Amino acid sequence: MRYAIGVDLGGTHIKAALVRDDGHAVKTARTDTPAAAGPQAVLDSIAQVIEQVAQGAPDGEPLAGIGVGCPGSVSLDRTTVRSPPNLPGWKDVVLPDSLRLRFSEALRQRLARDAPILAENDANVAALGSAFWGTGQPYDSFIMVTLGTGVGGAIIHHNRLFRGATGAAGEIGHMSIDYEGPYARSGVAGALEAYLGHRFLTRHARYQLLTRPTCLHQTAGTDLEHLDLISLHRAAMAGDGAAIEIFQWAGHKLGVALGGIVNLLDIRTFVIGGGVSQAGDVLLDPIRASIGRFVLPALRDGITVLREESGNAVAVQGAARLVFEHAEDAAGA
Ligand code: BGC
Ligand code: NA
Repeated sequence: MRYAIGVDLGGTHIKAALVRDDGHAVKTARTDTPAAAGPQAVLDSIAQVIEQVAQGAPDGEPLAGIGVGCPGSVSLDRTTVRSPPNLPGWKDVVLPDSLRLRFSEALRQRLARDAPILAENDANVAALGSAFWGTGQPYDSFIMVTLGTGVGGAIIHHNRLFRGATGAAGEIGHMSIDYEGPYARSGVAGALEAYLGHRFLTRHARYQLLTRPTCLHQTAGTDLEHLDLISLHRAAMAGDGAAIEIFQWAGHKLGVALGGIVNLLDIRTFVIGGGVSQAGDVLLDPIRASIGRFVLPALRDGITVLREESGNAVAVQGAARLVFEHAEDAAGA
């Protein structure tokens, strides 16, 4: 058995796990992301959760390395996180160096000689986790979409990540579906994230519900100030027409983008993860209904849209998988 640490850096939480090479998470830890306090504070918190899970390794067992999934694009050599749109104050952060200097002597001793510290885009690690231990397992190629604060994406081609010229391939959230549409933080007009990013979707829902008869007026109050997507989902499940329509609207927007991807790549399997995907079929059915309308007739067969059934667990698993894959590649090269 080999052991690696996987970390998932999110806008609200940092999660870490000590993961075995069969994907089993032996020990997990989480903490809030001090995003507003800037990169140094966030790096301190990442180092802390790493220290915690490292203690779960059996005595004498060296750690094969550490993988960290981060929002934003990451350099091809997996060292540098470049300007994540949803982490204020981050520009270029060299992750391995910044983390190593924060580690305790005890942790340094546990890391195997030459143990790598690898950064990779958060949606990319989720896709790797899904491909090896999640919903993506039966598929040799698929597209992962993560719906959270940001909208992330990844391309798995023949069980490997497709990374593009500089490592940034798969930024689905910043694909435009309307050049006259609203702006995402990236500055792209009509970017998918400007509709489906958690903040944007919640705001859209609040605004729509102001003028609609909905059971949410009772639970969330008429100003709908405290409306969240969990209560919106609950209302949709209870048959609330207005809530259902909001998920249909969101699913349709995603269907437009995913249809374009089928045309471009001829990859027809989509795995949808991230917090918003918890809504399940109330969101996925409208995607399934609309996607074919944006696909060339010859490519319409066999389009499959699935929810990531392992939830966010695939992110830390996939981050650890980076380490195992790195070792396998080195041994094979
Ligand atoms: C970023 C992506 C990231 C996604 C999810 C987007 O805004 O551009 O790099 O994968 O959010 O965090
Ligand atoms: Na990505």
